[in-house]
Amino acid sequence: MTSNNKSNTPLYKPKTVIIAGAGPGAVDLMTMRCHQAVEQAEIIVYAGSLVNPEVLKFAVPECEIHDSAAMTLDEMVAVMVGGINAGKRVLRLHTGDPAMYGAISEQINALAEAGIRVEIIPGVSSVFAAAACVKAELTLPEVTQTVILSRRAGRTPVPKRESIPELACHQATMALFLSVAAISDLVAELLEGGYVPTTPVAVVYRATWPDEKIVIGNLADISERIEKAKIGRQAMILVGDALSRKGALSRLYAEEFAHGYREANVNNNV
Ligand SMILES: C[S@@+](CC[C@H](N)C(=O)[O-])C[C@H]1O[C@@H](n2cnc3c(N)ncnc32)[C@H](O)[C@@H]1O
Repeated sequence: MTSNNKSNTPLYKPKTVIIAGAGPGAVDLMTMRCHQAVEQAEIIVYAGSLVNPEVLKFAVPECEIHDSAAMTLDEMVAVMVGGINAGKRVLRLHTGDPAMYGAISEQINALAEAGIRVEIIPGVSSVFAAAACVKAELTLPEVTQTVILSRRAGRTPVPKRESIPELACHQATMALFLSVAAISDLVAELLEGGYVPTTPVAVVYRATWPDEKIVIGNLADISERIEKAKIGRQAMILVGDALSRKGALSRLYAEEFAHGYREANVNNNV
């Protein structure tokens, strides 16, 4: 495997905090670049509610480690700014990929006010970890070519135009974060939006962690199944007919379909 950054190449630039996605849970799903960022860090602020603390074992013993779960934005920023101003290598570790519900914009803005830049290392989001757990292709030919990543409104409001019924009317695959606690309401909204009760649903609790749970069902029975499985948080909900795997064959591998890497088979009468 190759990487643009050899382990001994410094990743950290002056006056720059690295924000990295640590992946969904399993330590070996952390990217090599994130691994190197952990190894080279002198201060790590990690989202302790969801980042696997096992990833911290790659940090040097003298690395200063802060769990942001109990910190406010101001406290986190103070640690990061203080570290950078002391000339230290500072890493902010998020779960999954930082671009999804990572609250990174407010951190980037606050750091910018202190004259500090950020670099971002992407991570494996729980949406793709969960899809892998249930062996799903989220974009199935002639079923759907679209994935909607969203959530139900909770304490964080969601714009009305993005309410679950509004999004559900597309009948695309939906990947719903932060929503399992209100699974019955969610199901009612998905049905209101137009999915039929037999629409397949997969719920993955703590995908790739040792205590991962997978619950498969449809919109008619998933609430009961989730209740029985006692899942109330940290789950990814995948919804849509693509989960059935009953779609058309892809054109990419069709014999008669030519593309930049393969000639069409002209003897085929299709
Ligand atoms: C604050 S969001 C962070 C999402 C994260 N940035 C990502 O890309 O996966 C937390 C939500 O992500 C989902 N999540 C995060 N890790 C998960 C995992 N290992 N398995 C299932 N869902 C997970 C859950 O819906 C959880 O409530």
